[in-house]
Amino acid sequence: MGLPTIRSICCIGAGYVGGPTMAVIADRCPDVQVTVVDLSAERIAAWNGADLSRLPVYEPGLDAVVGRCRGRNLHFSTAVEETIAAADLVFISVNTPTKTKGLGAGQASDLKWVEASARTVAKAAQGHTIVVEKSTLPVRTAEVIQEILASAEGAKSFAVLSNPEFLAEGTAIADLEKPDRVLIGGQDPEAIEALAAIYGQWVAPQKILRTNLWSSELSKLTANAFLAQRISSINSIAAFCEATGANVREVARAIGADSRIGEKFLQAGPGFGGSCFQKDILNLVYLCRHYGLEEVAAYWEQVVRLNHWQQQRIARLVISKLFGTVSGKRIGVLGFAFKADTNDTRESPAIRICRDLLEEGAVLQIVDPKVSESQMARDLGQPAGAGEGSWQQVPEVQQAASGADALLLLTEWQQFAVIDWQQVAALMRQPAWLFDARAKADAAAARAAGLQVWSVGEG
Ligand code: NAD
Ligand code: UGA
Repeated sequence: MGLPTIRSICCIGAGYVGGPTMAVIADRCPDVQVTVVDLSAERIAAWNGADLSRLPVYEPGLDAVVGRCRGRNLHFSTAVEETIAAADLVFISVNTPTKTKGLGAGQASDLKWVEASARTVAKAAQGHTIVVEKSTLPVRTAEVIQEILASAEGAKSFAVLSNPEFLAEGTAIADLEKPDRVLIGGQDPEAIEALAAIYGQWVAPQKILRTNLWSSELSKLTANAFLAQRISSINSIAAFCEATGANVREVARAIGADSRIGEKFLQAGPGFGGSCFQKDILNLVYLCRHYGLEEVAAYWEQVVRLNHWQQQRIARLVISKLFGTVSGKRIGVLGFAFKADTNDTRESPAIRICRDLLEEGAVLQIVDPKVSESQMARDLGQPAGAGEGSWQQVPEVQQAASGADALLLLTEWQQFAVIDWQQVAALMRQPAWLFDARAKADAAAARAAGLQVWSVGEG
């Protein structure tokens, strides 16, 4: 029997992963029809919107890819069951957040959306269907999916693969077009090769790795744990640099020059954010405990604890430098997204830091080029307002600085690297501070303009 040829793909979940990933597959595989489905009619409508600058996910380059393929072989739809029925291959790319209640609350991943997707596939699929885990999942989740699919009635068959996604937000299109590797885990060689043939249209063969299912699932959690661990490691050293007069950027350059360590992911900052690092480590911690590996669980848990401490430490430092109180004081917050070049605020360090400052009575003037006011209101748990303990969104750095005792740089947007400090400092109430939690601003220029400057990791 020859390889099953994939002509029609369905992706369940039109989110940060499903949307960009399928757009690139459609772009690179013009002979394959790709349909992304979602329960959220609002999200699908936004993907289908005429104005490509208002897609539900902001990623540099995404608008161009969607513009090329949409309506040709890339479609966005709410017709979940019909699309599954017509598909040779179904990606499950739904959310897997940390459970908020019940067994494992606060650590285990909530698999209810994955389970629901598997049940829908079992019901709606026709003939032979390859089902691919794209979501990040606990080890051995494929077993659960296989069991659900095995209960399907009628003449259908399935092969389950794991194909975790390694893209980072802000660079998703570049990561997808030129991945370091594509990982496919599975037991069914024909299904593995059919999926490999899709990626093979633009990814070099040696970059397509094949493993067993469990290694693939665990590799994804492990990659995120290692990446997050590097950030907590460098942030811990940043605090040590501040205490001793060393400079964390010099230390990072010195250790990064060692090819065994490498230079990437050594930027000290306000702590890692994003929807995945914390969730995936907590999931790893939960699974380690489940298998009785207490020391291993405690080891990884510390990465998350250090991250919380880093966020808390920055809020406390701001308060302490502003004479011990921020009550009624204006603070301009530069950046709210969890990193630059995304509109995503999930687990953004800005949320925790702003909440701490609001609780102390600060008046925050927040500027972010991509995050909406309604998103900030949801994240901060209160609408925009006025007076002590309030926040408002402002369009530019100038308004953030107006009457402010301090500017607090939290997201490394490029525009914050080129601030005219003479002009901005003149708008602030003196003595004024720049707290740069990303070491992104031109500290020398800010100092020359009369500001006092704290830069993360600089002793
Ligand atoms: P997301 O919340 O942006 O999108 C998930 C989408 O799935 C939502 O639009 C939701 O409505 C939809 N959905 C949920 N249940 C559904 C169902 N039964 N039928 C149809 N649609 C359904 O999530 P995301 O950021 O795209 O992440 C998805 C998965 O990918 C997660 O497991 C995450 O850990 C993983 N991941 C995310 C990233 C990232 O950068 N965000 C990177 C790699 C891996
Ligand atoms: C991360 C991983 O990099 C991806 O490989 C993975 O696919 C993804 O998680 C996921 O599973 O969701 P992402 O969270 O989008 O991607 O972005 P990163 O670039 O990893 O940044 C995460 C956080 O760490 C951000 O808050 C960022 O500002 C921070 N960071 C990153 C630092 O503080 N210092 C660094 O040196 C690098």
